[in-house]
Amino acid sequence: MNTTNCYILAIESSCDDTSAAVLYNGKILSNVVANQKIHEAYGGVVPELASRAHQQNIVPVVHQALAKANIDKKQLSAIAFTRGPGLMGSLLVGTSFAKSLAYGLNIPLIEVNHMQAHILAHFIDEEGYDKPSFPFLALTISGGHTQIVKVNSYFDMEVIGETIDDAVGEAFDKSAKVLGLPYPGGPLIDKYAQLGNPKAYPFTKPKVADLNFSFSGLKTAIMYFVQNNVKEDADFVAKNMNDICASIQYTIINIIVDKLKKAVKQTGIKQIAIGGGVSANSGIRTTLKQAENRFGWKTYIPKFEYTTDNAAMIAIVGYFKYLEQDFADENVAAKARYQL
Ligand code: KG4
Ligand code: ZN
Repeated sequence: MNTTNCYILAIESSCDDTSAAVLYNGKILSNVVANQKIHEAYGGVVPELASRAHQQNIVPVVHQALAKANIDKKQLSAIAFTRGPGLMGSLLVGTSFAKSLAYGLNIPLIEVNHMQAHILAHFIDEEGYDKPSFPFLALTISGGHTQIVKVNSYFDMEVIGETIDDAVGEAFDKSAKVLGLPYPGGPLIDKYAQLGNPKAYPFTKPKVADLNFSFSGLKTAIMYFVQNNVKEDADFVAKNMNDICASIQYTIINIIVDKLKKAVKQTGIKQIAIGGGVSANSGIRTTLKQAENRFGWKTYIPKFEYTTDNAAMIAIVGYFKYLEQDFADENVAAKARYQL
């Protein structure tokens, strides 16, 4: 095993992005992501279409990742892949591809938990980005998950809070759908929110015990709010899009910050690292940066391309596992539900 010159090829296919990355030791050489536009028309990811698109994308995406990294597949030390959690049909494509390639090249295969990868993305060597030290709190917010995790070391993580219904990303996407915006609506809400008044329309925050979250009530509240106002004025949404989006985003951020405050109080840990697609949100980024002065926290926000689904984060976990010689055997299977 060559641990001084380690090249990992990583493959991510858990949802609707096909991605491949090459990592040399802790540094990313390439990180190629193919998005699937096909789901826009359906207002959400259609699992069968996602699986089919992964099958079409995977070979060109891996080729591109190797070409951009300027290496030949024979130089690879190991192949890492997302085993789960995610959509079964999507996971199967990446898993089968990774298994066959590792087998063909006769190199180790490394299985990676997608949620762990969102957290460990903070450990990619990247100029201008500090790495958190242990222990720290990780807030993973994506289209499928909402968790507060106490991270004691690379592989010792404890979920201390999570959503009991919708994920934060779903709250953004479903609210956007009610407003007639295409999928995924999160980035659009963010865009309009930046032009609106966050206090224009107050929405009540859910009362959920402990460090858990709930977002389904908010979605329903927004639905009734829109229905009632549209009855009075058919153009209500179009006229007030910026203020509505700003108010929704403000409420969601408040829910998150309240829980983080509680988590800090409970654990005494003031280092907070965020990950997952929703951490691309400009309001969340600004609020967490401001929390450094307001609450004395140290917050870590990853480089934009490592927040949404990507294979670079799978590669860094693969690298840490490679150093520990934690390899998967050829019978490893995709796992749609895969706890941290
Ligand atoms: O991590 P990710 O790429 O995929 C999952 O594992 O789910 O997260 C996708 C989610 C979607 O719900 C999308 O709307 C949301 O992240 N998202 C955002 C923003 N960018 C992506 N939500 C709010 N503001 C954004 N700027
Ligand atoms: Zn994700």
